Amino acid sequence: MRILITGGSGFVGQALCQRLHEDGHRVLVTSRHPNKVQERLPEGTEVRRWASDFVDLPPEAIVNLAGESIASGRWSESRKKELLDSRLETTRDVVALCEQLHSIRGQAPRVLVSASAMGYYGDQGERDVNEDTPPHDEFAHRLCRDWEAAAMQAAQFGTRVAILRLGLVLEADGGMLAKMLPPFKLGLGGRIGDGRQYMPWVHRFDLIEMILTLVNRGDLEGPFNGSAPHPVTNAAFTRALAKQLGKPALLPMPATALKVGLGEMSALLLGGAKMLPKRFQEAGFAFRYSTLEEALEDIL
Ligand SMILES: NC(=O)c1ccc[n+]([C@@H]2O[C@H](COP(=O)([O-])OP(=O)(O)OC[C@H]3O[C@@H](n4cnc5c(N)ncnc54)[C@H](OP(=O)(O)O)[C@@H]3O)[C@@H](O)[C@H]2O)c1
Repeated sequence: MRILITGGSGFVGQALCQRLHEDGHRVLVTSRHPNKVQERLPEGTEVRRWASDFVDLPPEAIVNLAGESIASGRWSESRKKELLDSRLETTRDVVALCEQLHSIRGQAPRVLVSASAMGYYGDQGERDVNEDTPPHDEFAHRLCRDWEAAAMQAAQFGTRVAILRLGLVLEADGGMLAKMLPPFKLGLGGRIGDGRQYMPWVHRFDLIEMILTLVNRGDLEGPFNGSAPHPVTNAAFTRALAKQLGKPALLPMPATALKVGLGEMSALLLGGAKMLPKRFQEAGFAFRYSTLEEALEDIL
């Protein structure tokens, strides 16, 4: 199958492209720097600037991952605009490709799997959160809500749209774990705030299986929580990581210091949602890594 990945050069995208290539698919990627990212992608990957540049090479499936990194830079008003605009621009361009293929060939791509995040729910305290839980209104929620709504526009051209609300994606070569490892390896890690906030997580291997499931299963559409069935609090995550590394993790990061240092972005670290993958479980999805201990043991 021909499959287009926006943000294919990223932490999730690169692993997905590799897997698709190994499975014999033709991989297409969008990037702001087509020449630069080519060497990070499997041989034969076609890289162009925009999704709408692929009208002559129409994909059957699209996985939409592109967007400015949420966890870097203070959330000033202009940074918040970049976070939103980078996602809306790339997602609207994906929808434009669907529209063009629908009008020129009478057939849009079969499926769009579009990323979103646990931030959709906002801070939910300790309650269980599934795909039907009403969100808490805050910046992360509004960002994800608008991003998801932009992706859903592809449905009017006959494309099946599945939204994947990602938890923290775990692998050693990127994402949050790569940032946490250096201090934790030095024994300088610790819980954040009171440590009671939930951190839904998913091993990157399982996340890629989730994406493939949504691509391949014609009966799955709408929002799906993309995280393992056993989310943990920040304190439990801290303990598990320290144990796996054989190091102490006794240096808590006080909430007030984070609020001063990071401003509104501190909500990412101090809030959370006990997100559960209810719809994946109903769909019979089999996790390889259900518990954090299993995932960290594999990764580390
Ligand atoms: N990793 C996680 O734990 C996690 C958790 C929740 C949600 N997510 C979301 O899932 C998606 C994939 O995550 P990831 O960890 O793979 O992200 P990533 O490594 O930051 O990669 C995202 C890709 O988006 C592209 N991009 C960045 N800024 C852009 C802009 N202004 N305009 C257009 N494209 C831009 C980049 O591609 P080029 O530089 O080649 O253009 C980059 O490779 C992201 O949207 C992320 O927010 C990730």
